[in-house]
Amino acid sequence: MRVAMIGTGYVGLVSGACFADFGHVVTCVDKDASKIEKLEAGVMPIYEPGLDSLVEKNVKEERLFFTTEARDAIRNADAVFIAVGTPSRRGDGHADLSYVYAAAEEIAELMDGFTVVVTKSTVPVGTGDEVEEIIRKKRPDGDFAVVSNPEFLREGAAIKDFKIPDRVVVGTDDERAREVMTELYRPLFLNETPILFTARRTSELIKYAANAFLAVKITFINEMADLCEKVGANVQEVSRGIGLDGRIGKKFLNAGPGYGGSCFPKDTLALTKTANDYNSPVRIVDTVVEVNAARKKAMADKVIAAMGGDVKGKTIGVLGLAFKQNTDDMRDAPSLDIIPALQAAGAKIRAFDPEAMEEASHLLSDIEFAKNAYDAVEQADAMVIVTEWDQFRALDLDRIKAALNSNIVVDLRNIYSPEDMAGRGFQYTSIGRPLV
Ligand code: UDX
Repeated sequence: MRVAMIGTGYVGLVSGACFADFGHVVTCVDKDASKIEKLEAGVMPIYEPGLDSLVEKNVKEERLFFTTEARDAIRNADAVFIAVGTPSRRGDGHADLSYVYAAAEEIAELMDGFTVVVTKSTVPVGTGDEVEEIIRKKRPDGDFAVVSNPEFLREGAAIKDFKIPDRVVVGTDDERAREVMTELYRPLFLNETPILFTARRTSELIKYAANAFLAVKITFINEMADLCEKVGANVQEVSRGIGLDGRIGKKFLNAGPGYGGSCFPKDTLALTKTANDYNSPVRIVDTVVEVNAARKKAMADKVIAAMGGDVKGKTIGVLGLAFKQNTDDMRDAPSLDIIPALQAAGAKIRAFDPEAMEEASHLLSDIEFAKNAYDAVEQADAMVIVTEWDQFRALDLDRIKAALNSNIVVDLRNIYSPEDMAGRGFQYTSIGRPLV
């Protein structure tokens, strides 16, 4: 199959590289010339484990190409994927579809022969209809089908999620499009991945419903964590105790500082907007959006309380800035709420993140960036874990203790054991677990 991937952001690049690795011929198109130049030189615009070698291999074997010129890529393609951004629109929280529509216009102009146009970007229900209308208007006789094929890739695990997914969802009622999509995902038949064919609108809603449900799970356990702290229970054991019930499931029950990232905050908000537009409010999701935003803000108060109620003039060593481990992505990261609130309360911040410091330097001000975790806590008045990078789990805690000015550790990701930390003489605060 020949594939054109419009947009080399996170989703487009990972999907393009993985389809190429499946054996298809993929051309990734992006208007950003410097990005394409870098990709051709093997420089990745994002940090994603395994992506650079996957790209390098498929470029070398001439299955993966990068270009700013959409013309040939679209003209020759069996399937054109729209994988452009759909950010929250400023002001009203709806998904901004202008990039999607611009891609549809371009495809309409250039497509040749039967073309399957696939929306991979997360788009509100009904967007497929609009994409179809845009193309039809420009090419009344065009031979094409518009399909919804949402992605479920987690940053940091995106290649694995693409190649060994729990399921693939394809929204179309066009038989020829179904054949093309089946062919594209054929390598997944080996591991018996379910491919779920649905109507287009259903597929579009599945994406939002999946992300919103996961956000509900996280927010639920976060509130349980708060309750655990009040009643003297342990949220990790609560998670395990409920998660072993197959109806609930173990995953996405880790309490933390609130969810962030490029998807959950944007998609939960967009779902509530769509639901309100159709006069069918999703009140649980409305509440989740509100509770999560408040939680991220409340985390600074937790740190301040652990430091005795006053952080004026104190230095706080912050470990982790990215919204989660294994990514340099700072979008809606809890650190973006926590750090400015601590600064407003008078604290000085020295921070370290293995990948996200460059990105963070554009979004946070007055921070001193450290060269490693030990450097971040040197002579600091507390250490605060904001992101759960593996390298922080394995720190030499005696060295940390010697470096710190105090014995205060606030762990917003529960990466250490309260018993062990108490045994080492730390005053250790975590999420939803009793103090020892
Ligand atoms: C998510 C979805 O998982 C993916 O299917 C979708 O396509 C895009 O959005 P991603 O944003 O990369 O992926 O990260 P994910 O691992 O899902 O985590 C999202 C947020 O939830 C992070 O802030 C993470 O720290 C938080 N989280 C996750 C928790 O607080 N607790 C958990 O148990 C799981």
